[in-house]
Amino acid sequence: MRAISYSRPGGPDVLELVDRAVPEPGPGEVRVRVAFSGVNPTDWKSRSTAQPGPGGQVPNQDGAGTVEAVGQGVDPAMVGQRVWIWEAAWQRPWGTAAEHTVVPARHVVLLGEDPSSELGAALGIPFLTAHRCITAAESLPDRLGPGTLSGHTVLVQGGAGAVGNAAIQLARWSDATVIATVSGPRKAQLAAAAGADHVVNYREQDVVAEVRKIAPRGVDSIVEVSAAVNAAVDAQVIGMHGAVAMYADDGGAEVTVPVRAQMGPNARWQFVLVYTEPERAKVLAIEDVATAVGDGAIRVGEEAGLPLHVFPLAETAQAHQAVQDGAVGKVLIDVTA
Ligand SMILES: NC(=O)c1ccc[n+]([C@@H]2O[C@H](COP(=O)([O-])OP(=O)(O)OC[C@H]3O[C@@H](n4cnc5c(N)ncnc54)[C@H](OP(=O)(O)O)[C@@H]3O)[C@@H](O)[C@H]2O)c1
Repeated sequence: MRAISYSRPGGPDVLELVDRAVPEPGPGEVRVRVAFSGVNPTDWKSRSTAQPGPGGQVPNQDGAGTVEAVGQGVDPAMVGQRVWIWEAAWQRPWGTAAEHTVVPARHVVLLGEDPSSELGAALGIPFLTAHRCITAAESLPDRLGPGTLSGHTVLVQGGAGAVGNAAIQLARWSDATVIATVSGPRKAQLAAAAGADHVVNYREQDVVAEVRKIAPRGVDSIVEVSAAVNAAVDAQVIGMHGAVAMYADDGGAEVTVPVRAQMGPNARWQFVLVYTEPERAKVLAIEDVATAVGDGAIRVGEEAGLPLHVFPLAETAQAHQAVQDGAVGKVLIDVTA
């Protein structure tokens, strides 16, 4: 089969198209015929820094495809099911940039007949991260779904990013009021298309004043891509028992928080790394995202604020470069092309 592999950390040029034997699923594993592989910043960051094991590393955490074989102890009824894949390559050599991959059975989630494989490959990292971020607040429930966030407000810093888009879609599905920040008109259009009720241009508008107009008592949850840059704003708009969920160090590696001002609302400043989040939070996130997909509430593409950029498998290096260069939307690899 065709696979992309790398045997040393480095730039996109370390990614090679190789011929590999189709892997056999071990106990507790499934083998998936991959249709689409999703590319996230984490994929190029680990490709740049992490030394692969001796057999090489197939990149990319997210994907979608069809289960074609199961290992010992896995329900054979899984064979033939369309699934989405999360964290395929986390501490394992088999990512999704290959015609076939093997993952632990719990890392595949039923996709059903209708949702596209493109949608399935866009779910894992962004949507599970967004779920964790939104539900970090003590003022909010730990489940998402219709009505769960009624009367609550979520602020998404960076609403045109992949995680930002996921946060908007999940929060809207849950009936929150959603405010998104963006850097310009094109991204404003995308955040609105994703479902944001209010979009604020953080380069031209006073974010604190705009958010306070919409949510005079502050917001419950802030999904934060750039805590180093936005901490002062976040501290002024976080509401009682709300949480600032910091999932990236874009724009700076360290954050300064005004302690006394954050004591008043009993605010929580929550660091988020999707791979190591508590088990219960991960399980609930997977269930809720699967339900949202089943409800038809999750969409991808320009009309959902997430333009798709599709590359053939042999151009995985270009796909990584596109994400590295800050592509707006979702970068996918058509593994069959
Ligand atoms: N912790 C985790 O588990 C986890 C999970 C997923 C992703 N991440 C990380 O999160 C980051 C974003 O990932 P992604 O896939 O969403 O990337 P992306 O699609 O490139 O989105 C990043 C977005 O952040 C916006 N942004 C940057 N600085 C901003 C600021 N000061 N205020 C508001 N928005 C700002 C960017 O737009 P403008 O610059 O135009 O505003 C862009 O829309 C990456 O560093 C990634 O590694 C972490």
